[in-house]
Amino acid sequence: MTGRSVLPEKGAPMDVSDRARKVVACRVCGGGDWQDVVSFGPVPLANGFLDPAGSYDDEPYYPLGVISCRSCRLMSVTRIVDPEVLYRTYPYVTSDSETITRHMRYVAETCVRRFAIGEDDLVVEIGSNTGTQLLAFREAGTRTLGVDPARNLAAVANGNGVPTLPEFFSAGVAETIREEHGPARLVLGRHVFAHIDDLAGVVDGVRGLLAPDGVFAIEVPYALELLERVAFDTIYHEHLSYFLVRTLGTLFERHGLRLFDVERLSVHGGSILAFVGHPQGPWQVRPAVAELSSLEERTGLFEDSAYRVFAKNVGHIREELPALIQRLVADGKRIAGYGASAKGNTILNVCGLGPEHLDYCSDTTDLKQDKVLPGTHVPVRTPEYARVHPPDYFLLLAWNYADEIIRKEASFLRAGGRFILPIPKPSIVSDGSA
Ligand code: TYD
Ligand code: ZN
Repeated sequence: MTGRSVLPEKGAPMDVSDRARKVVACRVCGGGDWQDVVSFGPVPLANGFLDPAGSYDDEPYYPLGVISCRSCRLMSVTRIVDPEVLYRTYPYVTSDSETITRHMRYVAETCVRRFAIGEDDLVVEIGSNTGTQLLAFREAGTRTLGVDPARNLAAVANGNGVPTLPEFFSAGVAETIREEHGPARLVLGRHVFAHIDDLAGVVDGVRGLLAPDGVFAIEVPYALELLERVAFDTIYHEHLSYFLVRTLGTLFERHGLRLFDVERLSVHGGSILAFVGHPQGPWQVRPAVAELSSLEERTGLFEDSAYRVFAKNVGHIREELPALIQRLVADGKRIAGYGASAKGNTILNVCGLGPEHLDYCSDTTDLKQDKVLPGTHVPVRTPEYARVHPPDYFLLLAWNYADEIIRKEASFLRAGGRFILPIPKPSIVSDGSA
């Protein structure tokens, strides 16, 4: 356990632990034998961007930590923050980066081709954000329906001609969709499944919505990669679950569905795309399911020791990253954040970094610009501002786009600028090393 206090010295953030329910029963297997993995103390919400203000006394802080279920090896956050608080107005807009645009096209093409989704077929996306992924399906001519609780984002999607229900997906919503639109050939959930507490309700809802030959495709960060890359910054209150393939298999089996294939992807720091269908459906179980499950076993991920090693590695980064940055600041170097990602906010808050280290944080998202980062209150600036005020070092808080960003910022590097990569071990990228 890493126990350093993360509360800022100035101001008086509100500890609202009582508004975050403690996790007791495992949301996959119902078990209650948890291994403590890491505990970061009270941390503000990773997407809780604030308007610049004189005082941030009301900013809520919730305990943040991760535990691992000893029976199914689900990794879970320790406390559940009310989803109404997290998602009704949401600043995270699906990236229009090259990496994600290409990836979304890949997902649409793969599903349409592999599952022979035709023009009359219905594709439902859970957590559809502004509708970009569904637009890729529309290009293939399918019927589409989005479901997303963020009213601000659902309104954008509807405005772009992607019909979207501003709701949390549930068994009730699934039933209404089926009544109004018929069964779905594909239900898609990209990077939303880890945000859902009532997995039983959602999976049962999906089972009722899927056509007999329907497919539920989910993309989640892969817990094996999280552990190997020491990507502890992907731990924040929105990410309730961190899945292994075997754990997903257990979940779907308990709810009368079958995980029949899984593919590893490089997006978002290492993810998996899992395909699930009715057990009586036409989809044969592919070898990748057993192969990844046995890789997890060989890597020791069903033993306590793997999680103790992870916690130790997290402790090292929490020592080394602030030490490196403090050394640079003491040498008079100017540092800015690159990408006001949610995970970046975990890094800053958990490593005790703030405005005394970073002048600003550059981000391409309109909704984040002119705000300040949660907890640290570092101002968010546009990439244009960053070009006019280049720092000596960018702390790469959106490291999942490292290749694309380093390519895009070649002239910053050529001019002597450097990037600091926080994980798996703090390191520096310069022109020579890029
Ligand atoms: P992302 O890694 O997608 O997700 P999360 O918030 O879940 O950690 O966030 C990346 C952030 O970085 C997002 O706010 C957009 C921003 N960004 C840039 O500012 N410039 C870039 O070139 C890219 C690719 C992203
Ligand atoms: Zn469990």
